[in-house]
Amino acid sequence: MAAARQGGKNLSGGAGFGCEELERFLDTGWAGHPVIYHDVTDSTNLQAKLEAENGAPHGALVAADMQTAGRGRRGRSWSSPPGANAYFTLILRPELAPDKASMLTPVMALAVAEGIRQSCGVETMIKWPNDIVIGGKKICGILAEMSVERDLIRYVVIGVGINVGLQEFPPEVADVATCLQRECGHGVHRAELVAAVMGAFEKYYKVFTEREDLSGLIERYNELLVNTGSEVRVLDPAGEFQGISRGVNTRGELRVEREDGSEILVYAGEVSVRGIYGYV
Ligand code: BTN
Repeated sequence: MAAARQGGKNLSGGAGFGCEELERFLDTGWAGHPVIYHDVTDSTNLQAKLEAENGAPHGALVAADMQTAGRGRRGRSWSSPPGANAYFTLILRPELAPDKASMLTPVMALAVAEGIRQSCGVETMIKWPNDIVIGGKKICGILAEMSVERDLIRYVVIGVGINVGLQEFPPEVADVATCLQRECGHGVHRAELVAAVMGAFEKYYKVFTEREDLSGLIERYNELLVNTGSEVRVLDPAGEFQGISRGVNTRGELRVEREDGSEILVYAGEVSVRGIYGYV
């Protein structure tokens, strides 16, 4: 594994993506400081947890050009070739009850959508709970993990993988994945993109922490949500069911209306939601 570089020393990295590049574009008070950059690492989430255990502050950002063991939701892997994409994990030390931490993921989803809009000029949507999609295809996934002790959050790490450059996707996701370069028709500067996501996250995090719920962000989130008003399949390990998606509530739970008019609140956890005919 390549050594991490911190605080702007001894830099290199994949084209347009390195510690110095990230620091040059970051225009935030705390989100993204310090940058801990790896040319190659196993997983930025794993590294972020190690850094957090070793005292990394709220706002530290672990980023990499390539991951050898990129991790996705529900035990899946995340394809992480070099030179093409953005893999990064933000370390947070929020003063929140642990049961409120799941709302940080929709905050990041909004920040990614805004960061992409600002840096690439492309409009994206959110597939609940936290996939970012363009034209029904996935461009970004988010994986949040938390450490709790005696009912207090020690830290939360929020990992983000954005498909940026043209690439061959693994066969199992080839039909449902896309990348920014394909969608916007030009190259994308990864450090500029990540810095824009950090800027948006800092802004949205402030709104979130004022009320410790999504009430200040829900309108925008639901505006970007795919499938609202449409039939969805809820893939819950406890049993699959269908209903009409009615958007999220202020806790980020998906409101699904059953045929009998009752409403079920779906909590992200291990659940996935699909359109009736496929991924979206
Ligand atoms: C998903 O399954 O949709 C979530 C994918 C999250 C991938 C990112 S890449 C950066 C960070 N490090 C990881 O190992 N996973 C997350």
